[in-house]
Amino acid sequence: MKEVVMRILVIGAGVTGSLLAAGLHQAGHDVTLLARGQRLTDLRRHGVRLAEGDSTVIRQVPVPVVDKPAAEYDLIAVSVRPHQVDSVLDQLTAVDGDVVFMLNWAGGAAPLQKALGPGRVLLASAAGGGTLDGDVIRHRPPGVLTRLARMPIGEPDGRTTPRVQRIVRMFRDAGFHYRIEPDMESRLRSHAAFEVPFGQAVHQAGGPTQLAADPEALRTALRGMRRELTATGGFAPLRKLPEPLLVPVLRSFLRSSLAVNSGLSTISPSSAAEYRHLSEQLRAFSSR
Ligand SMILES: NC(=O)c1ccc[n+]([C@@H]2O[C@H](COP(=O)([O-])OP(=O)(O)OC[C@H]3O[C@@H](n4cnc5c(N)ncnc54)[C@H](OP(=O)(O)O)[C@@H]3O)[C@@H](O)[C@H]2O)c1
Repeated sequence: MKEVVMRILVIGAGVTGSLLAAGLHQAGHDVTLLARGQRLTDLRRHGVRLAEGDSTVIRQVPVPVVDKPAAEYDLIAVSVRPHQVDSVLDQLTAVDGDVVFMLNWAGGAAPLQKALGPGRVLLASAAGGGTLDGDVIRHRPPGVLTRLARMPIGEPDGRTTPRVQRIVRMFRDAGFHYRIEPDMESRLRSHAAFEVPFGQAVHQAGGPTQLAADPEALRTALRGMRRELTATGGFAPLRKLPEPLLVPVLRSFLRSSLAVNSGLSTISPSSAAEYRHLSEQLRAFSSR
């Protein structure tokens, strides 16, 4: 049973923000999606439109949409690209409420806390995955991995606080499987160390299946991941297992619907800018 209806703002109406807002709306929360540009127009016209994988069946979820935040929320979820975070921080200084950053981010909590105040910030991985096809979010069909995998969320100092417990319960009730992670900063950094060389190799190849078909490019990407992960730690199997074992695993992942229906398939100036930004954050971390 849901305990309290939360008043939530989701900033960023792309793939993951729209999935999150639609799920929370369907679970009965008072959720609003903050959008801009053509996406704002599309959402005002149709609400969030969702389809599983390549399906022609489209579901519409009438999530309320705004172009400016109100003065206060119980929770603000930020679902933008890392290079877009500064513009969101500017928007959020005059808005009250806890803020959970749900994106790839290797810059730690400090700059976010400095801009918003130390008590307001939580860190999390993005909710769900998919691609934007026109105004339709094509998301991953549910599979064993998506059912079993638990996405991390946590306080910057690792404590298990009532608010992080409340947020995890709310997300789970809405179908997003989160777990409390005691070291979100390291977790996000390791994820970025894996994601940047892998994502850039996918870009260069022209897509996940194209990279799967090019073992030499895949081996180069794997070596890049290992270099980055040596600095950040984490993802031990990727660092330690022999290359001949890992390359086929990565190839089959790249051909799976999990990769094809994910941000890896989005080859855009925004995803290229995201990898550059994460790469700078990783460099700043290793040169500390
Ligand atoms: N998609 C996936 O499958 C997936 C999976 C795991 C993790 N992630 C990660 O999750 C994060 C978000 O990814 P995404 O795929 O949801 O990105 P996305 O589809 O590009 O969505 C970002 C949205 O935020 C909007 N935005 C940016 N700054 C804004 C601002 N100041 N005010 C209002 N709207 C703003 C963007 O608008 P514009 O288009 O106008 O810039 C865009 O609509 C990334 O770090 C990504 O790597 C994604």
